[in-house]
Amino acid sequence: MNILGIETSCDETGVAVINDRREVLSHLVLSQIDTHQVFGGVVPEIAARAHLDHLDHLILEAMKQAKLGFSDLDGIAATCGPGLIGGVMVGMMAGKAIALAHNKPFLAVNHLEAHALTPRLVKDIPFPYLVLLVSGGHTQILVAEDIGHYHLWASTRDDAVGECFDKSAKMMGLPYPGGSHLEKLAQNCTDLAAAKEKYPFSIPMKGSKEIEFSFSGLKTAMRQALDKEDHTQQTLADLAASFQSVLAETLAYRSGQAMKKFKELYPQKNDPALIVCGGVSANKTIRATLESCAAQNDFTVMAPPMEYCTDNGAMIAWAGIELLKAGRISPLSTKARPRWPLEELKDFGT
Ligand code: KG4
Ligand code: ZN
Repeated sequence: MNILGIETSCDETGVAVINDRREVLSHLVLSQIDTHQVFGGVVPEIAARAHLDHLDHLILEAMKQAKLGFSDLDGIAATCGPGLIGGVMVGMMAGKAIALAHNKPFLAVNHLEAHALTPRLVKDIPFPYLVLLVSGGHTQILVAEDIGHYHLWASTRDDAVGECFDKSAKMMGLPYPGGSHLEKLAQNCTDLAAAKEKYPFSIPMKGSKEIEFSFSGLKTAMRQALDKEDHTQQTLADLAASFQSVLAETLAYRSGQAMKKFKELYPQKNDPALIVCGGVSANKTIRATLESCAAQNDFTVMAPPMEYCTDNGAMIAWAGIELLKAGRISPLSTKARPRWPLEELKDFGT
């Protein structure tokens, strides 16, 4: 089974061809970071136009690298939401056009579901499992029961963790998107314990038994820490390290609560797994902190390889394979959706 996957929901044009033996036959990502950097964030209209400019060539190149013709495909998968609607429409319409012209199934992929399924591209992880989805737009903890069946356990009251990384990095004068730049800067900190003492941050709503996130307070705390003194490269690195560390601890703290809840609800589940996905899961400190928290709770952490963490076509193609196997083929009348909560997927076909 060969599936072409198309991702255009934000600022990466991603195209890939994958087969159901987990072989990635081609995998191309064209980042628009340079285009948006001068604006300090993604400009939706510019993003949509850039997808339009490059998508055709990328699709042809991906097919060439996969050494396949369109007639060799078993389906075309495209992100139909959630995301920036102009970009989503570009990829979705390209996918539908190929599906129509070559009489192939069209697979409407929910971008969040694709992130949550990506680790299964590498390894067969049986359902149910716990998912921590950490991206520029989302911070969620959910249970994946099956393809199309998710229970949302936690989300954020305000900013997403990626947004918190990006906005704080911007305040520090780092380029967009700031998450990976902040991580790089933090590597120059030589004494984390001293940095945390000098620049203390605390886990938001730590006493609360509710599993929920809030990151806007940490962003404000970063603003105050920046305004308090004239920073040098070294103090900025220390500040970045302390900040990154509290973000990691926050994610681990809430994931720990969720792991305990999961064990209560699924006592029969052997070797439970926490899947960490979305762009922020590329962060090494976050991965390490989650791993030690998971070990304490007898969970295994699984995260996709780095190249599949940020938005890409391979995760959409893989979701397409899962959807096709589950018989979830979408009509060509499927609409692009700026908002598309995972929990609504259970209503598929109704
Ligand atoms: O999943 P993604 O590529 O796009 C969305 O769907 O949002 O996630 C992008 C987010 C951005 O906020 C970016 O700063 C963050 O992921 N990110 C990171 C790292 N790499 C990407 N955050 C922290 N550390 C990183 N290494
Ligand atoms: Zn994403």
